Amino acid sequence: MARSQRGERGGRVAVLWCVLACGVLLLPLAPAQATDPKSAGAVLAFSRHSESVARRSLASLLETVPPASVRVYEPYEDRVVEFSAWPFARVLDAVYSKSWRSEEELLFTCIDGYQPSVPVARVLSHSAWLAFDRADQPGFTIRKQESGEFKRVELGPFYLIWENLKDEQMRQEADYGWPYQLVSIDLIRSRDRFPKMTPPPGAPADVLAGFAAFRVHCSKCHKLNGEGGSIGPELNAAASPVELRDPQWLRAWIEEPGRIRPETRMPPLNPALPERARTVDEILAYLRVMATARSGPEAR
Ligand code: HEC
Repeated sequence: MARSQRGERGGRVAVLWCVLACGVLLLPLAPAQATDPKSAGAVLAFSRHSESVARRSLASLLETVPPASVRVYEPYEDRVVEFSAWPFARVLDAVYSKSWRSEEELLFTCIDGYQPSVPVARVLSHSAWLAFDRADQPGFTIRKQESGEFKRVELGPFYLIWENLKDEQMRQEADYGWPYQLVSIDLIRSRDRFPKMTPPPGAPADVLAGFAAFRVHCSKCHKLNGEGGSIGPELNAAASPVELRDPQWLRAWIEEPGRIRPETRMPPLNPALPERARTVDEILAYLRVMATARSGPEAR
């Protein structure tokens, strides 16, 4: 008797719990956002090879693609946070149909003019999400660490994030490809963006993977054919490292430069990167091909 009563109560409590939990989980999503005056003007422009394809408001995106709450390790805030977001591939499908999948590169433009780009292949092989709000706090912001101080940064209208709690590679590649204050997306050719660093047409898959890895791990410090950062030396002029050094030396250098030259300012390739040896192979395959394309594919 007492048992069945408890059981019944337990059942009612469970239903109440579900109503509460569902209410709490769902309410901050769609309806509240669509009427939020701050984000009412949020619009994302989509184009292909610089030609406008569509402009989508937050409200129309909410009608087209069902959003979800996603927990990610936020690389700027340096902890796990939760966003309201759409699966990015589904947004692209809705705007471009499936045709974006055979393009090379996604170019993002942010409010301040910052223009990062990521290979389409990265979106196809990992889970990207287009975030439009925080699901775990009021305000679409993060606390970003800049020179030892935390600053509150507005993320809207849109923020591209990546599932990186289960995807160790994305986690270890930190903030690569996380543009916030995103206002437009363009589908471009890789050589429009990197005319000299892009491998020649028809390059095999490992070379393309090496190019992608080079952009994540090396090009912020090194130029290749004149494109890239300038903390380290240019890597394809006058000679390529693959012509100057044997592969074992280069592998050891990339994996642990401090063991060869203790004073070096070059950091080791992230030791926690999964499939690190394969990434080094791919970067070397890329450097070998580029050694034969010294001024880039548009060489005269
Ligand atoms: C944080 C900046 C930084 C990053 C990232 C970086 N390097 Fe370097 N690299 C340097 C600097 C600085 C040097 C100059 C040598 C020194 O300081 O010892 C250098 C030197 C080199 C050299 C010349 C070594 C020699 O003496 O022959 C090669 C090859 C090289 N880097 C390849 C790479 C590759 C490949 C990557 C990506 C996996 C990479 N670097 C990432 C800063 C960087």
